[in-house]
Amino acid sequence: MTQLPGLLDTEAIRKDFPLLDRVVHDGKKIVYLDSAATSQKPRQVLDALNAYYERHNANVHRGVYTVAEEATALYEGARDKVAAFINAPSRDEVIFTKNASESLNLVANMLGWADEPYRVDHETEIVITEMEHHSNIVPWQLLSQRTGAKLKWFGLTDDGRLDLSNIDELITEKTKVVSFTLVSNLLGTVNPVETIVRRAQEVGALVCIDASQAAPHMVLDVQALQADFVAFTGHKMCAPTGIGVLWGRQELLEDLPPFLGGGEMIETVSMHSSTYAPAPHKFEAGTPPIAQAVGLGAAVDYLSAIGMENIQRHEHAITEYAVKRLQEVPDLRIIGPTTAEDRGAAISFVLGDIHPHDVGQVLDEEGIAVRVGHHCARPVCLRYGIPATTRASFYLYSTPAEVDALVAGLEHVRNFFG
Ligand code: ALA
Repeated sequence: MTQLPGLLDTEAIRKDFPLLDRVVHDGKKIVYLDSAATSQKPRQVLDALNAYYERHNANVHRGVYTVAEEATALYEGARDKVAAFINAPSRDEVIFTKNASESLNLVANMLGWADEPYRVDHETEIVITEMEHHSNIVPWQLLSQRTGAKLKWFGLTDDGRLDLSNIDELITEKTKVVSFTLVSNLLGTVNPVETIVRRAQEVGALVCIDASQAAPHMVLDVQALQADFVAFTGHKMCAPTGIGVLWGRQELLEDLPPFLGGGEMIETVSMHSSTYAPAPHKFEAGTPPIAQAVGLGAAVDYLSAIGMENIQRHEHAITEYAVKRLQEVPDLRIIGPTTAEDRGAAISFVLGDIHPHDVGQVLDEEGIAVRVGHHCARPVCLRYGIPATTRASFYLYSTPAEVDALVAGLEHVRNFFG
């Protein structure tokens, strides 16, 4: 068995994840290499969900009876856990949403409806990058169409990194907001946050970071990032679907207007007007995803007990090994950085002229689960002149043997179509 320095005790960890025991085709055990799309869930999270529904289920912030108070304490307790996990200066800066897309749409809409000095209008500019997930492109396109603000973006280099050569022309006095991904879901690139934040701060622009592919995999410290907003989702970090987070700086959250109106986000309501509750409640209209937040709290406990530094080290070792082994496969071209440096554990590639859907289907027959397509980042595929890629992505439970299985599976694909 291949041993790499820095690996976690995956034998023990994998016992926590029931799905990793699944047998798929012809008695083959699943090789799950699609954690960038969604991670598998440990028993500790499944147990927390069950316990919530079996013993504490009630609506939050409303009831005065015991179970309702327990539900509120669990929901708000999850907020404390997330705040500590991302080193937020205040728990009130953590807004629960349903996913990262909703978090990013929330930022775009806050800025669209805001007063000066935050207001995005026809005299201002928005800057994004060509490597964004659609969830960090489309909300800004919508805002640009609605307000007349100009949408600009960083291009990409041939080796899958941001082209920062024109940063001073892209981010100018007119820029209101710069929104970019910390780790690309298709290329795996880890972006140079400091350089971009420094330039944005020089011109007084706000910075919004999509940390969906970062929060599950590395230490995420919102104070160290020096951004104004950070968005991520729970389901990629061992939590259930239906729960996301937007962290925002407190003074911004105080000043910015709400996006969705409804129950629980108000202070008073009359037939003529309303006043709003303080953040985070101002941004959480309606019954929130309570059980999902509790599940996210349990996921944060689970990941923290293993240690995000240890998870990061494990994934770096696996990524280094996978990048090396994949490049031994004839006709395989990695789309993105070809070393593990400043790189996350999602690796996209094309295999000769075999269509990624065919690659994915043959791999599936071997029990290997990968994602194929444009990965909700179609501009990246257009940039590199390809319709789609096959993507293998790794997590804390991934093993070198699974990398070997992928490489063997790709040999099989080549023989099948050869
Ligand atoms: N955003 C997820 C992915 O990249 C769904 O696969």
